[in-house]
Amino acid sequence: MQLKNHAPSGVLLASLLVAPQIASAFYLPGVAPTTYKPGEQVPLYVNSIRPVAAPDALLHSVVSYDYYQPHFQFCQPEGGPKSVGESLGSILFGDRIKTSPFELKMKQNETCKMLCPTTYKQGVAFYVNDKIRQGMSLNWLVDGLPAGQRIKDELTGTEFYNPGFLMGQVDADDKVIFNNHYDILIEYHEVSGNPDQLRVVGVLVQPESKKYTKDIPKESTDVCLSNFEPLQLKEDGETKVQFTYSVYWIPSQTAWATRWDKYLHVFDPKIHWFSLINSAVIVVFLTLTVMSVLVRALRKDIARYNRLDQINLDDLSGTSALEDGVQEDSGWKLVHGDVFRTPSYPMLLSVFLGNGAQIFVMTGFTIAFALLGFLSPSNRGSLGTIILFLYTILGFVGGYTSARIYKSMGGEKWKMNIILTPVLVPGIVFGTFFLLNLFLWAKESSGAVPFTTMLVIILIWFIISVPLSVTGSWLGFRAAAIEPPVRTNQIPRQIPPVTTYLKPVPSMLLVGILPFGAIFVELYFIMSSIWFSKIYYMFGFLFLCYGLMILTCATVTILMVYFLLCAENYNWQWRAFLAAGASAGYIFLNAIIYWASKLSLTSFTGSILYIGYSALISFLFFILTGSIGFFSSWWFVRKIYSSIKID
Ligand SMILES: *[C@@H]1O[C@H](CO)[C@@H](O)[C@H](O)[C@H]1NC(C)=O
Repeated sequence: MQLKNHAPSGVLLASLLVAPQIASAFYLPGVAPTTYKPGEQVPLYVNSIRPVAAPDALLHSVVSYDYYQPHFQFCQPEGGPKSVGESLGSILFGDRIKTSPFELKMKQNETCKMLCPTTYKQGVAFYVNDKIRQGMSLNWLVDGLPAGQRIKDELTGTEFYNPGFLMGQVDADDKVIFNNHYDILIEYHEVSGNPDQLRVVGVLVQPESKKYTKDIPKESTDVCLSNFEPLQLKEDGETKVQFTYSVYWIPSQTAWATRWDKYLHVFDPKIHWFSLINSAVIVVFLTLTVMSVLVRALRKDIARYNRLDQINLDDLSGTSALEDGVQEDSGWKLVHGDVFRTPSYPMLLSVFLGNGAQIFVMTGFTIAFALLGFLSPSNRGSLGTIILFLYTILGFVGGYTSARIYKSMGGEKWKMNIILTPVLVPGIVFGTFFLLNLFLWAKESSGAVPFTTMLVIILIWFIISVPLSVTGSWLGFRAAAIEPPVRTNQIPRQIPPVTTYLKPVPSMLLVGILPFGAIFVELYFIMSSIWFSKIYYMFGFLFLCYGLMILTCATVTILMVYFLLCAENYNWQWRAFLAAGASAGYIFLNAIIYWASKLSLTSFTGSILYIGYSALISFLFFILTGSIGFFSSWWFVRKIYSSIKID
């Protein structure tokens, strides 16, 4: 595993194909191993309480809660819990890490230590039981490792650690059982056989429910080792609960560098590979076919147009051309005087394209960073941080692109363009984000981004992103306009009616489905990582899928634009953008289907959040794919019109 990181970049693809978990084997800056002496305190931090799939494999909630939310009544450390410093990305992605009262001493087994006694009143018990039914799970961190449960993959027979463990469960008689005892199993590794240098390499928690009959002392005893009845929180009275835990330190051969491997489990990698290769083959085949057909047709067209020119020059009567059976001027050449005419709403289009370029470059860099291993799950929140950072910095690209295009389209309201580019799309995104957060606040969910974080984001946006974008725009407007290869006529041509499949909606439906097809499989895994809190790290797959998507998006849009121009319809700019962007519609549709089949959200808020976030992601995707479609078509149109002679 480790060798791969040092492989030269030429081997990148090879290692990519060999190991999807390349990201797991990296020593990251800031994530240096911590070495403990025997008896030294190892802190246990608690993170937000999140829903996981219930035993019926459906997710019942998407709202997460703070560990110390008063209703849960979990034991607090002396002096109250303190927040542990986190990166912005980590906060945005829902981490709320706090200190805990658990005392873990390296290599010192403890049994049945009492944390705290508490009493659950009627209303609270109802609340907690409801959360248990929704499949809420506790998330702890020991030395940066999530406390997991050992799960066996029935298909491959391999074992892996799944982060988080259930707060309670529902038994066969539909009674809700509350877990109040935790067996904490910690695997440690001796650094080069030295018994004084120990590192944590695995954390497992087995929660249990024990209805204690007498008071438990604070110190280690063996009371909890005997069997007890399961504990239920009474919804019609008070329940006394004593929280206890045991700690077992287990020597392990796993080295620190590979400790994450057990957490990163690919469910049936064969199917994953199979479907990926399947779609890759189809996409590449399709692209090549389309390309070769298109290139051949274009060659013929161009040769014909230029021959016609020749004939016209040789024989001014031009009859020979007509005798040839070739009509003078037909197809896309006819619209040469209109094809570079400014489209309607040039402002909106250029703002979208600027933001699209920004997102495109951001996505590319993010995936590249991920491939290099900078975004491994051990570096908590690094994905969110890097996305935010790149998006901010790349405001420059957005501004420049938007200005350049706007100028080339002959736009004159350049001040408006400079303002709208960094404000419109980010404003829509942030506005939606803010609205969704209001719902979370109302629910007292910890998933709600704290107000201070919101402020920080706004500040970053206005202090760094907006000025960068304005600078980019400035340079974009200073640069020369991109001149079209053919002149535009004064009077617009009439557009003849087109066949059904070239009408806006059918063409969008047809074009949009192909890029969606290229990423469909990967999307499934990303969705389950977002909503089921599974760790996503298959960036190798993602890289391939992203490439395939770009390729498909560009090819099919070019094809559509070609047909459109042949049908003498020169309004290709918006059509290309919308048709390629339509794949976002499919992504949204897919999210809705996922919602219907994999989630069973009991609350209204949950549904709003799910649909809201899906819509937001789809919107960004719309801008991204739309821009890919536009830019490839633009390149194509310039190419073909500059290769014919026009008198
Ligand atoms: C702690 O308990 C585990 C499990 O019972 C055992 O394997 C291990 O040797 C014990 N460690 C110490 C330091 O006693």
